[in-house]
Amino acid sequence: MLMPGRDAYVEAVQNPDNFGLPLLKRLGLVRHPETNAPMAWPGAFGIVFRMENSHGDARAVKCFTSAYPIRAERYEAVSDYFDTLFSRNTASVRFLAESYYARQGVQVGRRWQPLLIMEWVEGDLFNRHVGALCAQSYPRPQLLALARTWAELMRALRADRLVHGDLQHGNMLVTPDGTVKLIDYDGMCVPLLIGRFVLEGGHPNYQHPCRVQQYNERLDEFSGLVILAALVILAACPDLWDRYDIRRNMLFQESDFKNPEGSALFAELDTLEEPGVRIVTQAMRRACLARNTDGIPSFDSVAGALGLY
Ligand SMILES: Nc1ncnc2c1ncn2[C@@H]1O[C@H](COP(=O)(O)OP(=O)(O)O)[C@@H](O)[C@H]1O
Ligand SMILES: [Mg+2]
Repeated sequence: MLMPGRDAYVEAVQNPDNFGLPLLKRLGLVRHPETNAPMAWPGAFGIVFRMENSHGDARAVKCFTSAYPIRAERYEAVSDYFDTLFSRNTASVRFLAESYYARQGVQVGRRWQPLLIMEWVEGDLFNRHVGALCAQSYPRPQLLALARTWAELMRALRADRLVHGDLQHGNMLVTPDGTVKLIDYDGMCVPLLIGRFVLEGGHPNYQHPCRVQQYNERLDEFSGLVILAALVILAACPDLWDRYDIRRNMLFQESDFKNPEGSALFAELDTLEEPGVRIVTQAMRRACLARNTDGIPSFDSVAGALGLY
């Protein structure tokens, strides 16, 4: 099924009559102060609008630009599972945003399209936040604090048996109090979905070359490790940011994973003596050379060796 494009959604959301939920009819679109166009945050598979009530309470409204036949069942399973986690206030709740999936979300032309309403998360995209830290004069304490938060987040996901499926800079926001919130639950796996659905591969600059196309509980381990390694390395050597940032990665990129021995980044990391850097470099190299994802060192063992657990 062909989904509407970004422009069609931008037009449709400007008319409150097009929304299927009374809640959305009552919220107003946040517009650009100069152009008056709706503020929109485009991603690879969707477009997100910010909508507010008269008190300034904000929601993120995500419309989908790519077809995904089992989206409704998946999002409904995720929503049900989130309800249980939120009602028990389990470990991962502070890293998640509440969300609600509506099958009849917005009418575009004559067709109903689904949408996702989420709590609006105030914060900076993860890579922008880290890039800004690296430009400061002594970012080490803040980068290590972020690495610790990251390790807590990974532990909380595991404790709650959640797999995000696409951990990467564009799907994580750092809030003003320094915590990390995960967004974009398109690839999320909850226990009910384990082993069932094949999903798209996640961002290549964060995925193991042998990533499997089926959910399992270790799916986030490699991307989690990439992010942890980047933070530990940057804490020791923030200058690396400028040389390896391509605005869609955290230090490493796909070519490093496919060929660690030919990678300029790995070669440079080998010259660094800092103990944390040595631990994560060795773990990343082992992970990249593994022929299947079972050979990836566990996130736990690496975080443990770094003294984070
Ligand atoms: N709940 C939210 N709060 C604040 N910003 C959000 C939220 N959800 C998404 N965004 C913004 O919209 C962008 C695209 O959303 P995302 O869900 O990642 O779409 P895609 O599936 O297309 O990648 C994000 O990178 C982020 O900047
Ligand atoms: Mg995204």
